[in-house]
Amino acid sequence: MRDPVIKLEGIHKTYGSGESAVSAIKEASFEIYSGETVALLGPSGSGKTTLITMIGCITEPSGGKLHLNGQLVYEGTWQVKDTRKLRRERIGFIFQSHNLIPFLNVRENVTLVPQMNGVSSAEANTQAQALLEYLGVGDKMEKFPSELSGGQSQRVAIARSLANNPKIILADEPTAALDAERALSVMQLLRSLAHEQEVAIVVVTHDERMLPLFDRILRVEDGYVREEKF
Ligand SMILES: Nc1ncnc2c1ncn2[C@@H]1O[C@H](COP(=O)(O)OP(=O)(O)O)[C@@H](O)[C@H]1O
Ligand SMILES: [Mg+2]
Repeated sequence: MRDPVIKLEGIHKTYGSGESAVSAIKEASFEIYSGETVALLGPSGSGKTTLITMIGCITEPSGGKLHLNGQLVYEGTWQVKDTRKLRRERIGFIFQSHNLIPFLNVRENVTLVPQMNGVSSAEANTQAQALLEYLGVGDKMEKFPSELSGGQSQRVAIARSLANNPKIILADEPTAALDAERALSVMQLLRSLAHEQEVAIVVVTHDERMLPLFDRILRVEDGYVREEKF
C-alpha cells in the first residue's frame, strides 16, 4: 500500500477557553493519498476552514497528530521549526478569492514563491509560462490582476499554487466567486491535475453540483468528520 500524503490522527481544535470555548473540530482521523481529489462538505460554521487550515499548518491544532508527506509535523506542538517555510515549499493553497498581489503582474505573482525558495528567475519564468499555458492564461503573463476576469484570476491563482510543485493542494471554496460554468471548468482542471501529476487535492465546497468530480467526500458536521459512502 502507498503511504498517505496527508494523515490525521485524532486531530482536534478548540478556540478560546472556559465559558467561551468553541470546539470547532472534535476529532478527525483520515488519510489522503496522492492522485486523490477529496471534498470537505458541510454547512457554514461546521469546521471546514479550521480543518483545512490545520492540514495546511496555518491553524495550530489543540491536539492529535498530523503527518504530511510521511513526516510528523504536529504532535502536541509543531514538530517543524518553520511552518511557513514548510507551507511555501510543499503546499499549494488556493483561497476563495484569488488573493493575487495587485501591484505585481501575473508573471511576478506566479514566480514570487519559487524565487523565495531559491529558484533562479530564468527558471521560475520558464515554469510560470508553462503553467499559465497549461491553465489557458498563457497570454496574460504581463497583465495585472485588475485586468483579468474572475475566472482568469482564479486560473492564475491555481498556477501560483502549483509553482512550487506541491504534492498537496488545499483549496477553500476556490470556485465561490465564479459562475457555475467557470466553477465547473476550474474543478475539472483540478481533477485532471490530481490524476495526471499525482497531487493530493483537498477542496472545501458546499456546491453539491461539484460532488461528482471528487474521488471521495468527507462530510463535516458540527466539528465531526465522516467519510461519505457513494
Ligand atoms: N479564530 C477563531 N476564533 C474563535 N472561533 C472561531 C475562529 N475561527 C472559527 N471559529 C469558530 O469555529 C467554528 C468553525 O468555523 P470554521 O472552521 O470557519 O467553519 P466553516 O469553514 O465550515 O464555515 C465556528 O463556530 C466558528 O465561529
Ligand atoms: Mg470556511
